[in-house]
Amino acid sequence: LRQFSLQYTMSSRSISKVTVIGAGLMGSGIAQVSAQSGYQVTLVDLNEQLLGKAVQSIQTSLERVAKKQLKDRPEEAKQLVSKTMANLATSQSAADAAKSADLVVEAVVENLELKRSLYRQLDSTAPAGCLFASNTSSLGIAELAEAVPNRKPTFGGLHFFNPVPVMRLVEVVRTPDITEAAFNQLLEFSRSLGKSAVPCKDTPGFIVNRLLVPYLTEAVRMLERGDATAEDIDTAMRLGAGHPMGPIELADYVGLDTTKFIMDGWHAKFPNVELFKPSDMLNKLVEEGRLGRKTGLGFYKWDSKGSKL
Ligand code: 3HC
Repeated sequence: LRQFSLQYTMSSRSISKVTVIGAGLMGSGIAQVSAQSGYQVTLVDLNEQLLGKAVQSIQTSLERVAKKQLKDRPEEAKQLVSKTMANLATSQSAADAAKSADLVVEAVVENLELKRSLYRQLDSTAPAGCLFASNTSSLGIAELAEAVPNRKPTFGGLHFFNPVPVMRLVEVVRTPDITEAAFNQLLEFSRSLGKSAVPCKDTPGFIVNRLLVPYLTEAVRMLERGDATAEDIDTAMRLGAGHPMGPIELADYVGLDTTKFIMDGWHAKFPNVELFKPSDMLNKLVEEGRLGRKTGLGFYKWDSKGSKL
């Protein structure tokens, strides 16, 4: 490994080309903020339809950002949108898109085997020294890196938060095998996007989700027991704890399937931890396809623009 580390450190590349795999909510957001910061970005997904939808949502979000940042300067606002869109390309092939990448950020569904097989594809074409990063919310970074042992020295976690253009944090996850140089590049990259970068160990949920996801599930349990209504729990946490959203609304916002998936994974790994036990109510809603904001129905109803009704 030391030999590899030396080799990879020596060939450490500065970052200008970023490939983002997965054009869902998180992948699109990561692609957007990278393109906004001047990186040449290629966003990858399986088909034209998914990519078209992502590009459209990036355009809409950018217009919001530009309007906010350049309120009285409509010409500059227009330029910010067009310049950013010009930095963005799409592709349906991960292997092709990785060929000249300096950094690959993977944001595909939370499935260990799928991610591992994707990393193997990327490994076959990505240049030596290319940084590999996962935006996983609940899987171990080192576990993912096992798929590509020769990439371990340049493999880390970059965990963003939804909505990516607004949330100011990136958790930068260190594995035992990543080199100091590669880890620093990931920190620098996050800062170059205008985010605060917090270094984290490769522990379940890192910092934010380890605290947030059990909190969301506790709120659902409170509702399940009939201790309070969804509206009252949310109002209480907004006004009593100063949170921008209450936990029930936030669970809908994050996605009930995502929340359940994270808890189920931890429950399987740590069956004796009371806090990670499944919630019947959450399971039922997910079973019924009530996944929250993304499906228009969860604990609350959401309109097609993503606003709570
Ligand atoms: N793109 C661009 N701008 C956006 C945006 C987007 N997708 N979403 C919101 N904004 C902007 C709006 O334009 C608005 O700008 P303005 O101040 O000029 O009006 C500003 O953000 C606030 O938005 P809204 O007025 O629509 O609504 P709110 O004031 O309620 O803010 C919110 C929305 C930013 C989502 C806020 O409610 C919030 O911070 N909620 C908590 C979000 C959170 O906790 N996220 C983390 C989830 S955990 C996670 O992602 C980890 C994963 O692994 C599970």
